[in-house]
Amino acid sequence: MTPSRIHRLSLTHFRNYRAASLQVRGDVVVLVGPNGAGKTNCLEAISFLSPGRGLRRATLEDVADNQGDGSWAVSAEVEGALGLATLGTGLDAPGSEAASTSRRCRIDREPVSSATAFGDHLRMVWLTPAMDGLFLGAASERRRFFDRLVLAIDSEHSSRVSALERSLRSRNRLLEVRNYDDHWCDAIERETAELAVAVAATRGQTVTKLAAMLREHGEASAFPSAQIMLDGWMENALVSEPATAVEDRYREILRGSRARDAAAGRTLDGPHLTDLQVMYAPKSMPARDASTGEQKALLIGLVLAHATLVAEMTGIVPLLLLDEVVAHLDPNRRRALFEELAKLGAQVWMTGADPAAFTDIGPTGEIFDVESGQVARRA
Ligand SMILES: Nc1ncnc2c1ncn2[C@@H]1O[C@H](COP(=O)(O)OP(=O)(O)O)[C@@H](O)[C@H]1O
Ligand SMILES: [Mg+2]
Repeated sequence: MTPSRIHRLSLTHFRNYRAASLQVRGDVVVLVGPNGAGKTNCLEAISFLSPGRGLRRATLEDVADNQGDGSWAVSAEVEGALGLATLGTGLDAPGSEAASTSRRCRIDREPVSSATAFGDHLRMVWLTPAMDGLFLGAASERRRFFDRLVLAIDSEHSSRVSALERSLRSRNRLLEVRNYDDHWCDAIERETAELAVAVAATRGQTVTKLAAMLREHGEASAFPSAQIMLDGWMENALVSEPATAVEDRYREILRGSRARDAAAGRTLDGPHLTDLQVMYAPKSMPARDASTGEQKALLIGLVLAHATLVAEMTGIVPLLLLDEVVAHLDPNRRRALFEELAKLGAQVWMTGADPAAFTDIGPTGEIFDVESGQVARRA
């Protein structure tokens, strides 16, 4: 099992960082500092070393230092599945000769076509305060959360999800035209159905494995276990039916609902609407009915089980980014978390305003003080 590790991280014009760099020695990295210091920004920078839009789902323009020229860069020396490597990503200044609308990605200074390639080196999983309302919020949030979990296992998942969204947009746009060409619509729907089945199949496989891991993990963990299920007919049908049959069925559905979908202005059936159902296993109640503290503990349990699954399935122990997680735990749970993290063998990045919450991180832990976009190792 290879852990994903960052040895050195450099940020240039990334949000409130002009130029910052830190060297990391061990597997427990703690960022402490007052509100607004840049702790979450630092984790967000790391999250751009994976495919997708980072842990805030920000645009590439949003993360550029608003006092800079619009360019930004994150680079890291990592030790991952392929040994030592330097991963870099960022944006060139808008208007400059090299400017592009997508971020640039480099491995060992050689350009790669997308951040998907970073998945060959490292995987990561995160938990942030923005996820606190996950069980109460919209289905789209839970679907995104789950797709993120799938992505940590299958680096191609987000490109398939994006392709499905594009295909659905093409269909919706075509249906807006009064006398659209039926054959053209058939062609788009064929593509939509193919992508939909690919997305749903990967989700279905992941949910089955993760549900099993949660049962197993829950017995040994200080954190409560979740029971999870996908609420989407296609994911569930694919468990017992051949993909081709499911694809044909979805194509029929799309064909038969053109008038309805044209009136609605969107496609009203498909895996782009799937929800993740979560139960709080110890009390067999829906997660949304659990207390705030119970929901947080449930999420931690979910992320730990998922990290174990990623390690098992990919052979790469994922990097864990835990933003403001520790301060909300009582001292016993805190120690249990540190123990479970050590057992997992992952490099973990944690943040908090109060250094007292990290007294039990153990001898390998390193604390960095963050203040106004500066990071310094605590003496
Ligand atoms: N694009 C940006 N350019 C410069 N500063 C930014 C940008 N985006 C956010 N910030 C600043 O970053 C700070 C928030 O940093 P954050 O990492 O969320 O703090 P915390 O340490 O509380 O997690 C705020 O002061 C905000 O104004
Ligand atoms: Mg923060």
